[in-house]
Amino acid sequence: MAKISRAFVCQACGAVTSKWSGKCGACGEWNSIIEEAAPSGPPALVAIKGGKGRASSRLASFETLSAATLDAPRLETGIAELDRVLGGGLVPGSAVLVGGDPGIGKSTLLLQAAARVAAEGARVIYLSGEEAPAQVRLRAARLGLADAPVALGTETNLANIVATLGSGAPPAVVIIDSVQTLWSENVEAAPGTISQLRGCASALISYAKTSGATLVLVGHVTKDGQIAGPKVIEHMVDTVLYFENLSGHQFRLLRAVKNRFGPTDEIGVFEMRFDGLKEVDNPSALFLSDHDRGAPGTSVFAGMEGSRPILVEIQALVAPSPLGTPRRAVVGWDPNRLSMLIAVLEARCGVRLGGHDVYLNVAGGLRLNEPAADLAAAAALLSSLAGRSAREDSVFFGEVSLTGAIRAVGHTDQRLKEAAKLGFARAVVPAVSGEGNREAKSMTLVPLSQLEELVALLAAPSG
Ligand code: TYD
Ligand code: MG
Repeated sequence: MAKISRAFVCQACGAVTSKWSGKCGACGEWNSIIEEAAPSGPPALVAIKGGKGRASSRLASFETLSAATLDAPRLETGIAELDRVLGGGLVPGSAVLVGGDPGIGKSTLLLQAAARVAAEGARVIYLSGEEAPAQVRLRAARLGLADAPVALGTETNLANIVATLGSGAPPAVVIIDSVQTLWSENVEAAPGTISQLRGCASALISYAKTSGATLVLVGHVTKDGQIAGPKVIEHMVDTVLYFENLSGHQFRLLRAVKNRFGPTDEIGVFEMRFDGLKEVDNPSALFLSDHDRGAPGTSVFAGMEGSRPILVEIQALVAPSPLGTPRRAVVGWDPNRLSMLIAVLEARCGVRLGGHDVYLNVAGGLRLNEPAADLAAAAALLSSLAGRSAREDSVFFGEVSLTGAIRAVGHTDQRLKEAAKLGFARAVVPAVSGEGNREAKSMTLVPLSQLEELVALLAAPSG
């Protein structure tokens, strides 16, 4: 029998050490290291050492890239926001990981999706290791889905699950809620540890690959390392979605962080209501607060989240600082980007912010990652500094370079269209625009090539 040695595995990042310690040296997480049976070592390199392959080795076959299968076929869930994030629907034979904090709404979303798919006639198996059937039924009743033909189970033992899936009609979708409750007697570790998680996930993923069923794994994001986080199986699955809270709101954001069958910059927006998750088709309305419109220190950014334009309000507060080193605080944007913008305003435009505290906030709890937000942030800062409004009928977008030049950004047409749709009349945009034809003809465009021009524009009397 193989010798079983022990190893200490961080449940947050999967780092293996030979000694226990309070803090993981690899990821810095505290109290996340648990003793597990060590993996049985790399496969012996017999074939290479011996010169010839072992008698039992099988020769691998190769194929060409130009197969006849063009697009992956899709199984639509009927929840448009979810389908978009998935890249068009569930791909048969693929594995999807849905991660998120406990209580964020993963089970609710997947039960809703399961019911829709099952109602279309596909066989859907929902295995709940966390809730009793009565609890799941209660939720289904609350969601108005009690009649959906979903096959509900509560098995958590891997061998039993695989045997069950193999017998009877092959399912189109298998949902495991959650992967952290699974256990296999072949893995020498407690349920929820990294070894169990990896072992069980890989067995189910190979089941999905061979059977053509779509596997959906729910994984709780954990803070204390008592159970392994979903990060450790991200590399095994085809698609990773995270479900997040928009800070302080009942709105939820579904984000693809990995997708072998689609783009990764798509978001889906949902609202958690008493009767389940509702899709939000027009998120721009959510991120624009009406009563702040046109107040000094605010500007509207015409941004993109994946393929979808979203208008977001950016708020700034610039005030003389009593401190030697003024405060800079940012919510929803990169602090380094703010420092850079302030430096460019000082060096290239002669705007003095060195003696001012600067606060910047992206309304609605969204996090902006686009460089195109530079111009809107600059407009909010200048507007707050001057104490005058940056015109409430305007949207802003454009990247600011260190030289003070305004650089072109993509998707000009889509941004303008969305702004026109929401009643904006004027757009302050880069002079050199990436795209030629601008569709939103109703918009007045104010092209800028230097950040200085924005300073002059905001200082000029409006109207
Ligand atoms: P749940 O889907 O159980 O979260 P997760 O599986 O990610 O842990 O959602 C739990 C929360 O959602 C819970 O706090 C109650 C709330 N909720 C609603 O507000 N409305 C609903 O219709 C449902 C089903 C849940
Ligand atoms: Mg749940």
